[in-house]
Amino acid sequence: MCGIMGYAGNRSVPRVLLSGLKRLEYRGYDSAGVAYFVDGRLEIQKAEGKLCNVEKLLHDKGFDHVQNENGGIGHTRWATHGRPTTQNAHPHKTGPIALVHNGIIENYQDIKCELLEKGHRPLSETDSELFGYLVLEEQKKGHSFVEAVRQSFLKVEGSCSVVLISEEEPGMIVGIRNGSPLVVALDPQGGVFFASDAQAIIEYTNEVAFVEMGDLVVGHQVDGRYQLDFYDSLTGTKLDRTTTKLNWSVESLDKQGYPHYMLKEIFEQPQSWIDTLNLLLDRAKQDPFPLAAQPSVELLRRAKQLQIIACGTSWHAALLGKYWIERWAKITVQVELASEFRYRDPVLSPDTLVIGISQSGETADTLGAIREMRSRGIPTLGICNVRGSSMAREADAALFTAAGPEVGVAATKTFTSQLLSLLVLAGALGCERKTLSLESGRELFDEVLRLPHFMDGYLHRSSQWLAQIDHVSKQVYRRKGFFFMGRGYSFPIALEGALKLKEIAYINAEGYAAGELKHGPIAMIDDEMVVVVLAPRDRWREKTISNLQEVKSRGACIIGIGNSDDQAFEEMSDFWIPLNVPKQIRPELFEALYPFLLVPAVQLLSYQVAVLRGTDVDQPRNLAKSVTVE
Ligand code: M6R
Repeated sequence: MCGIMGYAGNRSVPRVLLSGLKRLEYRGYDSAGVAYFVDGRLEIQKAEGKLCNVEKLLHDKGFDHVQNENGGIGHTRWATHGRPTTQNAHPHKTGPIALVHNGIIENYQDIKCELLEKGHRPLSETDSELFGYLVLEEQKKGHSFVEAVRQSFLKVEGSCSVVLISEEEPGMIVGIRNGSPLVVALDPQGGVFFASDAQAIIEYTNEVAFVEMGDLVVGHQVDGRYQLDFYDSLTGTKLDRTTTKLNWSVESLDKQGYPHYMLKEIFEQPQSWIDTLNLLLDRAKQDPFPLAAQPSVELLRRAKQLQIIACGTSWHAALLGKYWIERWAKITVQVELASEFRYRDPVLSPDTLVIGISQSGETADTLGAIREMRSRGIPTLGICNVRGSSMAREADAALFTAAGPEVGVAATKTFTSQLLSLLVLAGALGCERKTLSLESGRELFDEVLRLPHFMDGYLHRSSQWLAQIDHVSKQVYRRKGFFFMGRGYSFPIALEGALKLKEIAYINAEGYAAGELKHGPIAMIDDEMVVVVLAPRDRWREKTISNLQEVKSRGACIIGIGNSDDQAFEEMSDFWIPLNVPKQIRPELFEALYPFLLVPAVQLLSYQVAVLRGTDVDQPRNLAKSVTVE
């Protein structure tokens, strides 16, 4: 996920930018760069790969200690539009302006056509660079730099944040946001900070302002004092914004200010997806889903059938993986609970690859089944989050997710990282086997790359979405039981939602394929039961809505989770959790990505209910993070 850092003030600008960007390295990136003033002109240093490459460029030019008050901006980029090259890295310079951008400009193709017609020639393949030309065009109309930024932002669709400086306005930094997070602060030594995460500036100050959606913020000096001015980006009206004092103790620094690891880990999902994609893919290649060469990929390519085994949440990931792999790669996939598989006598056809999925890589049943298969000479693959785990060492090959350490016992970011890996494998195998057209593969891959940015825009502490889920939780947390129901891709998510609620809130909850409820469980429905209906706008929506009617007419309290513009569904629901959905190229392809929007919703619902019931969210009773016994 892109990281943004900006600073103007009394400290050495390149040093502040680099130290802030280092603290944002956890976000995952593939190129980086900084822009800063030298003798009144903006110098740009950027490079592919890690931040140390930029550090070296600065050092070689003797600019790493530049000291002036004119300011600078820096960026770590994770490529979406255009490959991870130096040219595509940020900051982008357009005339006197330099900018960094986090998020997606969805209408960038229309904007690009207009700009080309006006004679502009962008140097990179990015959507971001175009914003600089928009600002130039607005300045030509006579607008000030700040007003030109505001006017340009009105032309942009999508969810993002942009931070800019200009050679014509030394000492000023302008930030604007309608998506990806942005934090600003005053430097106690004189100066202003801009960053995509408070972590980047916490070493200088703990008093920060979280830039709200739709805000424009200007950091500059007025009468010799630095100040931050906020404006409504729609109207240009000045706003009053308050600061937040972050009270991050050493312990809470680990939790980065979150009350529980689980919440932090839910919010870390977009980052873990990026890290997982970086690990799985070779982004230098042009093909859609370009898998990086590794032994596990070769095993997969050779397999004629897949047998996936797993437990708990990892089993839910496997169930969903089956949908994607069978749909796109046309490979038969069997999924089974490891504890059942290992104690029966499975008959496997030749050329079957047995895949164990386990975040810990230590789960006794999954590991036992892998060992058993190996002893029978059947090829095995482990999909794990922990390098050096038993499964990673003992299977014939391992494929890693990169969710980072997960402290909360409830699996959250490891689950969606497993899902993402399976989706990528399905897409890649589909393209290679030509069972998924190259065009569809490319469109799907582009959507996958946009997903972490999109989710980062509304999966954060100050999001309205979180407040909505909190409101729903307060209405239902005392109810006697829950059903979660969904069809198609939403069915495994229904199972996962119920498991989360059981394990952390200790509430009786069951997940069902929506069509199954009437085959028995519907007898349990009364007005004390809550039914969480997962029905995004996919090919199964209509059928799920019919099943909703069946339980609603029997008195169930309905929590609907669906597309934010699905008014009919919202009206049928007693409580509503909307899913904001990015503008899509082809809805029939995007439907495969709904699980990545639904999962955080059910995770947050379970989390809030558990908090209200006062349970130990991070270490629920009777559970362990690694289940190393049968
Ligand atoms: O480490 P694993 O993924 O193999 O763990 C499997 C299950 O024990 C695990 O998913 C468990 O269900 C979690 N507590 C779910 O949150």
